[in-house]
Amino acid sequence: MAQLSRELQAQGLDIISLSLGEPDFVTPEVIREGAKKAIDDGFTKYSPIAGFLDLKQAICDKFKNENGLDFTPDQIVVSTGAKQSIANVVLCLINPGDEVIVPAPYWVSYSQIIKLAGGVPVFITTTVENDYKVTPEQLEAAITPKTRMLIFSSPCNPSGTVYTSQELEGIAQVVSKHNELYIVSDEIYEHINFGGQHASIASFPFIKERVIIINGVSKGYAMTGWRIGYIGAPTWIAKACDKMQGQFTSGASSISQKAALAALRSGGGFFKEMCDTYKRRRDLVVDALRKIPGMKVNVPMGAFYVFPDVSGFFGKTDGSTVIQNPNDLSMYLLKDAQVAVVTGEAFGDDRCIRISYATSDDLLKKAMDRITNSLGKLR
Ligand SMILES: Cc1ncc(COP(=O)(O)O)c(C=O)c1O
Repeated sequence: MAQLSRELQAQGLDIISLSLGEPDFVTPEVIREGAKKAIDDGFTKYSPIAGFLDLKQAICDKFKNENGLDFTPDQIVVSTGAKQSIANVVLCLINPGDEVIVPAPYWVSYSQIIKLAGGVPVFITTTVENDYKVTPEQLEAAITPKTRMLIFSSPCNPSGTVYTSQELEGIAQVVSKHNELYIVSDEIYEHINFGGQHASIASFPFIKERVIIINGVSKGYAMTGWRIGYIGAPTWIAKACDKMQGQFTSGASSISQKAALAALRSGGGFFKEMCDTYKRRRDLVVDALRKIPGMKVNVPMGAFYVFPDVSGFFGKTDGSTVIQNPNDLSMYLLKDAQVAVVTGEAFGDDRCIRISYATSDDLLKKAMDRITNSLGKLR
């Protein structure tokens, strides 16, 4: 949809794109300065594969100070984005035929990376009524002798769902009963959380040795283009990821690593303003969606996405096409409202669409007016 909307924009159409998964903020100045200094200081050569030691130490400090978790630098691997961190872990731990449980809706790349490793994604369906949360009972029912991994994000892309500490404990308890099962906990949206303190499933001592935390600077620090992600994991898994990465990409960009170091050492004074802005935009979008008859929407507690259930529009028509699924609805909104959203099918959900609100309030208001108007025409 992002590509299609760019093409339509190039043709002169006034398309508002709510399809992108990246902050609209500029990377804070202190971080940009860190990168400039790195260039001037000559950090232009290969770095150690798993990252510079000062950055790995800063990541350990972050885990300690923000999450109360103890890690040592040999448990950290810095990669070219959280995406590569996930790929490293899955390629290291998953053998052909292994099953990986993925609560749906999920971030698109999980299922593809699992398949790349020869694994079999096993999806668990969640609904808007349940805030898109998987229950311990659902998880238990999905586990078979072939299950090796559970992967999920909280805050979640695409639903914005944030699991509470209590809910995570329920999941951890189920996993702890199965010795061969690992949890990949994607916490890349940690700093975009409207409910206060972030909870990590690694904080339960009885499961920590089987949790791999995925994190990075892309979303919270508005650094998507710098490409720095990392894991905090048991040492043997970190070692395996180091080997894997050594053959694919080597160390991440040395300049970006120094920028990430500046980010982690900055104290994150900008988080609050960013978070307040996202929350205001979330309210704007959720309020507008709630007024549209037929739209089912929950209140996402983190990230910058709303994932409304639009199945109430299936079977309706604008007079020429019948809307049968979220793809049809997304195409209708693109053509009629000139607003680009993403079909839920991309995230393993055929009832929903994803709306990203990482854009200005003015554009969001305009987009919501247009969506309301276009959906009102369906009969
Ligand atoms: C849930 C989730 N995990 C990981 C990533 C990848 O992050 P990065 O840009 O650091 O590779 C994204 C990016 O959209 C994401 O939404």
